[in-house]
Amino acid sequence: MSAKFLTRSRELIHNNLSGLIKSESLIDQAMRYSVLTDSKVIRPALVLASGKLNSNLSEASLINLASAVELIHTYSLIHDDLPSMDNDDFRRGKESSHIKFGEAYAILAGDALHDLAFELITLDKDMSDSAKVKAVNILSRASGSSGMVLGQYLDIESENNNKAIGENEIEKIHSLKTGKLIQASINLGQLESSLSVEKQSILSEFGSAIGLAFQIHDDILDQVGESSILGKSTQSDIKNFKQTYITVLGIEKSKVVANNLATKSIKLLENLNLDKDIETLKELADYMVNRKR
Ligand code: IPE
Ligand code: IPE
Ligand code: MG
Ligand code: MG
Ligand code: MG
Repeated sequence: MSAKFLTRSRELIHNNLSGLIKSESLIDQAMRYSVLTDSKVIRPALVLASGKLNSNLSEASLINLASAVELIHTYSLIHDDLPSMDNDDFRRGKESSHIKFGEAYAILAGDALHDLAFELITLDKDMSDSAKVKAVNILSRASGSSGMVLGQYLDIESENNNKAIGENEIEKIHSLKTGKLIQASINLGQLESSLSVEKQSILSEFGSAIGLAFQIHDDILDQVGESSILGKSTQSDIKNFKQTYITVLGIEKSKVVANNLATKSIKLLENLNLDKDIETLKELADYMVNRKR
């Protein structure tokens, strides 16, 4: 079921974005190359699944919000792969942007994807201006220097740090670099929510738990996954002397932590006592820690 939902989400997001990104310049082409391709679209799917629980957002607005998150995420991947960051040549089953287009254009394509995310929110036809301001606020805070960018900075810092770090520190890095955007996906689906503030805050906690679990599973796949299935290089973390859940806790303990977080997040959903469909979110949570790619 989550496979179907992900496929449908990918179609909706790609249709929306393909009309929006031109193919005039090389930068347009580089943007399309990275975003209109075979990715898991887990964050957009989470926006749409969270939005199922909220009767105050139109389908078109949810698709715009989901597309905006995917644009930010894709920009972060292009930059993450750059030689000055993780130096990875393979992404989403093909050459990384800087290998295909050169470093300068990859950086610019990433920048432009980031900007388009916010432009897209302003273009929405159904949301009120105040909802759009809230959306920009959620997305910018999750991505910037107190969110994903801070996490990426601490991740790079940890490479140069010979001192072993502890579980609290690695949890902080992962919650920031990956958890924040995943949590923001859930929160965007709850804009102008028809649910109570308490229920929204439980959903947000769900997003935070599953976001951390997702990055722990990413660390596991980097070590034991198949590059051809993942569509990206494996052993990247070892190559870069990264501190990961594997270096801090070992692989078996990391699996237990990720699974416990998924179980906790599913319990949070069940305790919401909603009559509406929480099955999609539950299945996505399960997929996030059991996926092979
Ligand atoms: C990869 O994200 C980077 C992380 C934050 C772990 P995904 O695993 O969601 O990659 P795509 O979007 O499917 O390519
Ligand atoms: C990346 O984490 C998180 C981002 C914010 C892009 P990783 O560096 O582990 O992601 P992959 O493994 O390259 O996809
Ligand atoms: Mg990285
Ligand atoms: Mg990386
Ligand atoms: Mg990784």
